[in-house]
Amino acid sequence: MFHLDDVTLIYDIDKTNKVYAIKNITTTFPDHGLIGIIGPSGSGKSTLMYCMSTLKKPTCGEILYQEKDIAISYTNMSKKDQEQLRKSKFGFVFQRHFLISYMSALENVIVAANCSKGEAMSRAKELLQKLGIKQSEFSKKPHQLSGGQRQRIAIARAMLHEPSVLFADEPTASLDHTTAFATMDLLLEYAKKHLVLIITHDGSILKDADQIIEIWDGSILDREATI
Ligand SMILES: Nc1ncnc2c1ncn2[C@@H]1O[C@H](COP(=O)(O)OP(=O)(O)OP(=O)(O)O)[C@@H](O)[C@H]1O
Ligand SMILES: [Mg+2]
Repeated sequence: MFHLDDVTLIYDIDKTNKVYAIKNITTTFPDHGLIGIIGPSGSGKSTLMYCMSTLKKPTCGEILYQEKDIAISYTNMSKKDQEQLRKSKFGFVFQRHFLISYMSALENVIVAANCSKGEAMSRAKELLQKLGIKQSEFSKKPHQLSGGQRQRIAIARAMLHEPSVLFADEPTASLDHTTAFATMDLLLEYAKKHLVLIITHDGSILKDADQIIEIWDGSILDREATI
């Protein structure tokens, strides 16, 4: 579970044109469920996700991540501990997929595996298959794949180590509707036991989300439970 207390991130703080990317956000997130984050371009969605995942340090405010009895506060957390937290608990699908160009699709999925290679391979194949990637595509390099295939490989990579929290920034942006919905089904299944945060501009993929958060100009405008 996350607790955010009055979290603000200001970019270019030392310049005249300061940007309040997120402003005084106080909220909580449960330890499982699929939560959609929507809002106009530039409203602070990615920034919120970067702060929650320790990739960016808020200018002020506190973030607490708690799993079972262990509560971790981000205030004054060392870079090393942040890295450890990300590696062990968080999975990321970025707006840009960041696949490694000289590795095959399958190698890209297992690149950061923290289990044996055999185990990683079988889990990777299962995930790719669930995401609709054919076996004939496993050995292709990213430049030989379509944008949507690359995106799904990035999703499989993020899910490989079964993170407690999956942060996904526009994970279905390059997918056709049918593939987007199939991908969402996999993420919804995953969200039964884990927290899945999805940023999207396409509200229709959030029809089965547990909650939708609307961000406007750095603040949470609305938060609705859809079920
Ligand atoms: N590195 C940066 N330096 C300065 N300003 C930034 C930086 N990154 C983002 N911003 C600004 O912070 C605000 C929030 O950006 P953010 O990337 O969080 O928006 P977003 O809601 O994810 O937008 P999009 O839907 O386009 O991805 C924007 O005004 C953006 O211009
Ligand atoms: Mg963004």
